[in-house]
Amino acid sequence: MTPTQELQRPSIKTALPGPKSLEIINADQQYVTPSYPRPDYKLVADHASGVWITDPDGNVFLDCNAGVAVCSTGHCHPEVVAAVQKQVGELIHLCGTDFYYRHMPELGKKLNDIVPIDGPTKTHFANSGAEAIETALKLAMYHTRRQKFISFFGSFHGRTLGALSLTSSKRAQRLGFMRQALDVVHVPYPNCFRCPFNKGKCDDGSCCMGTVDWIEKLLFSTTTPPEEVAGIILEVVQGEGGYVPAPPEVVKALRRICDEHGIMLIVDEVQSGMGRTGKMFALDHHEGVKADIVCMAKGLGSGMPIGACTARADIMDWHKGAHASTFGGNPVALTAAIKTIELLERELVDNSREVGAYLESGLNKLKDKYDCIGDVRGFGMMLGVEFVKPGGNASVNESASSTAPDPELRDRIEMACYQKGLIILGCGANSIRWSPPLILTKENVDVALEIFDEAIAASV
Ligand SMILES: Cc1ncc(COP(=O)(O)O)c(C=O)c1O
Repeated sequence: MTPTQELQRPSIKTALPGPKSLEIINADQQYVTPSYPRPDYKLVADHASGVWITDPDGNVFLDCNAGVAVCSTGHCHPEVVAAVQKQVGELIHLCGTDFYYRHMPELGKKLNDIVPIDGPTKTHFANSGAEAIETALKLAMYHTRRQKFISFFGSFHGRTLGALSLTSSKRAQRLGFMRQALDVVHVPYPNCFRCPFNKGKCDDGSCCMGTVDWIEKLLFSTTTPPEEVAGIILEVVQGEGGYVPAPPEVVKALRRICDEHGIMLIVDEVQSGMGRTGKMFALDHHEGVKADIVCMAKGLGSGMPIGACTARADIMDWHKGAHASTFGGNPVALTAAIKTIELLERELVDNSREVGAYLESGLNKLKDKYDCIGDVRGFGMMLGVEFVKPGGNASVNESASSTAPDPELRDRIEMACYQKGLIILGCGANSIRWSPPLILTKENVDVALEIFDEAIAASV
């Protein structure tokens, strides 16, 4: 991989957080909103390079989270830095909503070539994942002249009011905001480990078809006539909800339902996209299934703020002035995205697949070793590890849903990893997500797994 990685292991020299970090944490507590969902451990970054983060006290951490699946090319990838620095010297802003510059059609064409959508596409540029979702919601309403949406329990699509109407992964995200801004109905997400429909064996995705029946037989014949549904919003691998991949049968059936009723299939690839799953998009794992609208953000800009909503060109048929944003599609962010995709296509999607498989096999060995690991799942470098109460049945094949979740253990392990210099982050109620920079090497994986193993042993 391109960035030089002189360090091979984390280096922790102070009690954590160290004194300089504590100063920043204290100032943050005084002046910054308390609404950020920060974990129990407190990582303060001073600078970062590749997979290594250095805090203000000189402690060096191995990063297996990538700023929540954002720094896809690693921290400060030299080619991204050079491209951004050059761009900053040439044109920082002009407002693409009113004027033109080359970067918009350039990235639009690139996305047209790679997104899992049939036929020609057009792209609207935004600044974040939530904004990309807002674009998709408005577009689906505009194009279909319908107002209802179907979303999944456990999903996360952002915290702006439209996106929040879809979001349902944690109570804290909705508490205090009363009624939904949009007419959204939530359905159970198909989860082979904790099947919402069948407490027994569920290892082939077949009983997850309960989700499809729920939509077709229950919703469509009661509260939600299909001719009033503008879109179904799907995370092909549910992210914040616990890194849960949807079974292929369900993804295929959702496409069929959308085709039959003129509903837009909106695929949220904000977390799962840009090479994270070992293919460019998570939907690429589902051969023959295409979306109508795809939302991207996070890994698209290697850390520069960017969101994008790409849709079939015939769907993006709204009038001038219908949707725009001053900063969306800023030339600096677009430059970072163009370079990011170049790096992904050159080597990082392959690395995500290959080193991701190596990581997954190491995690599965730990699953064999510890009965508190109930499930290891995902693709590429989007891997979830679910912690359960030892003594319960941890097998996917036998009564998985009766296996009690162990969120406290998960939190202890997360903290123990931090204390040992490994950065990982929880997702769902009781899972840990592995979402490292896609430059991670097998040597990095060996170090990370050794620490993870020690952290589990010390926490059970
Ligand atoms: C799948 C998914 N969609 C949307 C979002 C919202 O993105 P942002 O935080 O950039 O608004 C997230 C953020 O975690 C996400 O994981």
